[in-house]
Amino acid sequence: MRTTYCGLVSEALMDQTVTLMGWAHRRRDHGGVIFIDLRDREGLVQIVCDPDRPEMFKTAEGVRGEFCLKVVGKVRARPAGTENANLVSGKVEVLCHELEVLNASVTPPFQLDDDNLSETVRLTHRVLDLRRPAMQKNLMLRYRVAMEVRKFLDANGFVDIETPMLTKSTPEGARDYLVPSRVHDGQFFALPQSPQLFKQLLMVAGFDRYYQITKCFRDEDLRADRQPEFTQIDIETSFLTEEEIRAMFEGMIRTVFKNAIGVDLPVYPVMSYADAMFKYGSDKPDLRVKLQFTELTEVMKDVDFKVFSTPATTPGGRVVALRVPGGGEMSRGEIDGYTEFVKIYGAKGLAWVKVNDVAKGREGLQSPIVKNLHDAAIAEILARTGACNGDLIFFGADKAKVVNDAIGALRIKIGHSEFGKSHGLFDDVWAPLWVVDFPMFEHDEEEDRWNAVHHPFTSPKDGHENLMDTDPGACIAKAYDMVLNGWELGGGSIRIHRAEVQSKVFDALKITPEDAKVKFGFLLDALQYGAPPHGGLAFGLDRLVTLMTKAESIRDVIAFPKTQRAQCLLTGAPSLVDEKQLRELHIRLRNPQAAA
Ligand code: AMO
Ligand code: AMP
Repeated sequence: MRTTYCGLVSEALMDQTVTLMGWAHRRRDHGGVIFIDLRDREGLVQIVCDPDRPEMFKTAEGVRGEFCLKVVGKVRARPAGTENANLVSGKVEVLCHELEVLNASVTPPFQLDDDNLSETVRLTHRVLDLRRPAMQKNLMLRYRVAMEVRKFLDANGFVDIETPMLTKSTPEGARDYLVPSRVHDGQFFALPQSPQLFKQLLMVAGFDRYYQITKCFRDEDLRADRQPEFTQIDIETSFLTEEEIRAMFEGMIRTVFKNAIGVDLPVYPVMSYADAMFKYGSDKPDLRVKLQFTELTEVMKDVDFKVFSTPATTPGGRVVALRVPGGGEMSRGEIDGYTEFVKIYGAKGLAWVKVNDVAKGREGLQSPIVKNLHDAAIAEILARTGACNGDLIFFGADKAKVVNDAIGALRIKIGHSEFGKSHGLFDDVWAPLWVVDFPMFEHDEEEDRWNAVHHPFTSPKDGHENLMDTDPGACIAKAYDMVLNGWELGGGSIRIHRAEVQSKVFDALKITPEDAKVKFGFLLDALQYGAPPHGGLAFGLDRLVTLMTKAESIRDVIAFPKTQRAQCLLTGAPSLVDEKQLRELHIRLRNPQAAA
């Protein structure tokens, strides 16, 4: 029906007659001449409708936003001074000969070029939202990225194998989405939180290198970087070491960035989990932010200030400082704002010191807390933080987790603020890294038990196998995360391929052999038949594309996403089902009133 895309009309087609199909993005009536910006997925082109073709002109007068049009016309240069450098078609326009309304549109609920739409409006009218050039660009890039991933994996001998969606619960640690079985009264499938166990089975089955770009389902609290159903680039390989896997997939992500958006990522630094927590209070540090923790736990053991000395002398406690160069100019109001902010993360307060004159020691400081600190402690703070005149030093003191979360978040908040950007505390670069040497287990204080940090099939470091009985907290895993600009982009591990090591992990997790058999019997069975050493990782495709597009939320790179409240505003899912369906599924609602 057409000769070219609207967005591709350029000087190359000068004086040629083109046939275009597209939507009326804007229509301007300049008294005598009507301009229509015609839009398709490749972009916009300006159509000029002159009154000297009365029939065509009459049609043009009736055109409104989002009408679907056919235009036949001649490409000509735009008059000098009216070019638009932002468009491929910016130097030309199409003089309309024939105009046909292929389909009229009712008035859209919003202007497509309105940048201040609420997410509710956008998601409710997702079809129109997706017509917006920015969204088209995002989804086209998503496709490009997936293609580059497939090309890379194919070239490296990876085979795409599908795994079931109706399956058994997998151990990624979130809540499952369940699907009731009609055939088996009272029984449920779980939608996969990831293909983890199946990809391991495929390694045991000898496929050597597997990948899949696939949906995963997790019923967890949603945030800007989380969806209940999201897409993983899921990968598993046999006979590669942790280092080989990291090198290969650093290479993949570098290739994808280069080929999809022309970006050369730097070589990834490799940082241990312990180091990341020590310096940044986070296992996914945003290295664009030029602020670091200073450890003060030892220093604060013997001060009179209980706020500091109590956590410093309590096992699991931590005291740190965060020096903000130039922060001395922050107002009390700003500091109070940050104090409120850290409370979100459980901090009870946010002590601070303004450094007016380092040389004067105590006298050169302005702070509500220095009166409580002895001279030696003050000297240590200034020396360890490397304090300079004009700095502000914040302090966090509490259980290590609270300090890490609160001061870690404060570090990001300040780094990303106008203050941070104008004071050189933020580098607008791509900052990838590997975080490695994760602990195998973390302690759940409420339930007084150990949980797997990654998942229970992750291998301990060589030589750490026996720590699983004696000191689980000290046992390090062969696990690794890829982090980019403060987002966990992907993660994986070398798996356990020997049944006796797997049993030890279950022991440490207090999973009885009977329980293990019920839950993961099929994997344990498979491990008995000469399972190869194997490992892998999974990337969040949605997150990867979000970072590449610099979108604010992963919802902007998913065609039909769920809201923060796990609903689809477009279709109205989830929704009530009729009694007959429930009966077939052997389900009676506990609270029919709430459902209605
Ligand atoms: P993990 O649980 O770390 O590992 O998930 C891998 C990657 O998937 C992305 N991701 C998400 N993206 C959007 N919304 C979510 N709710 C969400 N949850 C996770 C992240 C994350 O890095 N089977 C293991 C991988 C392995 O060991 O090979 C797994 O699923 O980018
Ligand atoms: P207080 O003695 O409770 O008035 O606290 C004195 C200062 O210490 C105030 O600036 C508080 O914000 C700060 N503060 C209180 N608790 C903590 C904490 N757990 N970590 C860091 N600073 C704190």
